[in-house]
Amino acid sequence: MDKKLVEALNRQLVAEYYSGYLYLQMAAWLERRNLKGFAHWMKIQAREEACHASIFFNHLASRGAEVVLDKIDAPPNAFKDIADVFEATLEHERSVSRSIDRLVELAFEVKDHAARILIEWFVTEQIEEEASASEILEKIRILGKEPGPALLAMDSSLAGRAFSLPAPLAEK
Ligand SMILES: [Fe+2]
Ligand SMILES: [Fe+2]
Repeated sequence: MDKKLVEALNRQLVAEYYSGYLYLQMAAWLERRNLKGFAHWMKIQAREEACHASIFFNHLASRGAEVVLDKIDAPPNAFKDIADVFEATLEHERSVSRSIDRLVELAFEVKDHAARILIEWFVTEQIEEEASASEILEKIRILGKEPGPALLAMDSSLAGRAFSLPAPLAEK
């Protein structure tokens, strides 16, 4: 495999762990404020991100490329309020989408179509990632006027989120 692409895939693998780390930190912040449904949603999000890292791991390993794990940065741990948490989530997912786009372009450039097909799964996944963060943020903004009972109702509804294994792992 192309050396530049292998390095970029390794960086993305670590970035996926960072996403998981960020969401786990947010889960802790939410749980401490007794928003257990929101915290549950974030913990599931963190598990999904660890799965994303595994998808890159499996791809590199199965193609005989070196997996090199770098350090994971510490995520922010202070947030103004719940809207701030989901603004940061949406902003983070948008920046992930930009790195995924750059990865597709690199795979094209070095004509690695196996990697390109793998990365294209993430292009589609990112639409959903941005949409779900944006939907929750919009709802929080609507509730802005009357956050009390409506926020608690939203908290109970998010408590029902189920974990599902991302398709590239489920196929194995
Ligand atoms: Fe991800
Ligand atoms: Fe994500």
